[in-house]
Amino acid sequence: MNVLSVASEIYPLVKTGGLADVAGALPLALRQHGIRTRTLVPGYPAVMTAVKGLKPCLRFDDLLGHPATVLEGDHDGLDLLVLDAPALFDRPGGPYLGTDGQDHPDNWRRFAALSRAGADIALGKIEGWRPDLVHVHDWQTGLLPAYLRYAGRPAPPSLMTIHNIAFQGRYGVDIFPHLGLPPDAYDVEGIEYWGGVGYLKAGVQAAAAISTVSPTYAEEILTAEFGMGMEGVLASRAGDLHGIVNGIDADVWNPERDPLLKANYGAANLKNRGTNKRAVAERFGLEHDDGPLFCVVSRLTGQKGMDLLAECVGDLVAQGGRLAVLGSGEPWLEDAFHHAATRHPGRVAIITGYDEPLSHLMQAGSDAILIPSRFEPCGLTQLYGLRYGCVPVVTRTGGLNDTVIDANPAALAAKVATGISFGPTTADGLRRALRRTFRLYSDQKAWLGMQKQGMKSDVSWDKSAGVYAALYARLTTKGR
Ligand code: ADP
Ligand code: GLC
Repeated sequence: MNVLSVASEIYPLVKTGGLADVAGALPLALRQHGIRTRTLVPGYPAVMTAVKGLKPCLRFDDLLGHPATVLEGDHDGLDLLVLDAPALFDRPGGPYLGTDGQDHPDNWRRFAALSRAGADIALGKIEGWRPDLVHVHDWQTGLLPAYLRYAGRPAPPSLMTIHNIAFQGRYGVDIFPHLGLPPDAYDVEGIEYWGGVGYLKAGVQAAAAISTVSPTYAEEILTAEFGMGMEGVLASRAGDLHGIVNGIDADVWNPERDPLLKANYGAANLKNRGTNKRAVAERFGLEHDDGPLFCVVSRLTGQKGMDLLAECVGDLVAQGGRLAVLGSGEPWLEDAFHHAATRHPGRVAIITGYDEPLSHLMQAGSDAILIPSRFEPCGLTQLYGLRYGCVPVVTRTGGLNDTVIDANPAALAAKVATGISFGPTTADGLRRALRRTFRLYSDQKAWLGMQKQGMKSDVSWDKSAGVYAALYARLTTKGR
């Protein structure tokens, strides 16, 4: 089967979060199921520089108002289609934000163009290649299924995956005339959303099926608490909504061979983690001792519950813990951790920014990773933690709920616990979870058992790739 995947970021070329990891790893995992994926991504400067030998395969004179070319090429085992549209993508800043930290003002046009180009490819515009199915990710590609639906000719089915419903691509009705959709597309059953245009909503309405990245999140987004205004639309499509948990690239994330660690190790020689622990402490300017070293590798936002953690730093330190934070995000949260570091020198430190190699070392050297998210569609850092023997301390929500087995007495007795999960998502809830973590850590046998059990969890793509493959197969035979 041939699949066109369309995503606004992809590891290892451009990444702001877990979407990139998934877009980069899933095509590789699907290969063993006989699925050949080509991924369409925007031609950001980082992509244009990194991918060598790109060749044009489709030209547009006027793609949402600008000329554009689709280029094809391979990178790191990925079969890529790159949308080269300099007026839209060749600029400084990140995929979504300018250097001033604000959204690029023409994001509506940039991602409508990506979707329009993807729809044309799906309809067979590249000579000699036509996908059997289109898999689109998040709001940036939500218009694609709508373009197919209103194309007026047979089109392949599409699967819309929601990685995070907090980002919906909502714009004013004034952009509608520029999208190149027929007037009847502006309808509640189409792309109209709360009096404007909704890109994610458009995808949810028009795709053959919808998925999100864990079974628990698939249930949560049907509620007003988590649906962020989309719960009604999703409820109307509940029969076509699937929750499929993410996996991780077990080659990139393998503590036995990871070149980014100071010392490699497996479940049999966890002592080697000590070398990494010292390296993490040194890198962050933290003291060395035998107490637990906690880490955070995260966007510093409200979603991630980072304000709750900032409230609990004093407790963590008072109990003999150290905390290393790697992340960036909302300035007031960055400040909160900088202040904590000043208050607790040698015990708390933050490195702001994005550092992929350091994130590997932290998973390999920290004792526990803190993920007190308010909501978490899947979450990948707990999966990396499990694989690296870095015990996840998580809230009981979304994918965190589906991937971490709480160390309650029954789970400990049955030797199946892999982490600490807690609720409610409050500072007090986190405080209690930390106290529990310290108690478990002081019982070295129980702790080691939990680390080993985590390392045994299947966090690879194997199982979920099979579920996607079966869903693709159902969708492609449905209409025939
Ligand atoms: P989200 O996509 O909501 O940010 P995920 O847990 O799914 O959350 O994915 C986050 C990804 O980004 C993981 O691969 C994580 O290791 C990585 N990451 C987040 N912040 C940083 C950072 N500051 N430096 C390096 N990697 C980071
Ligand atoms: C989103 C979610 C995260 C998920 C990732 C990949 O960014 O916030 O929970 O793991 O997408 O699906």
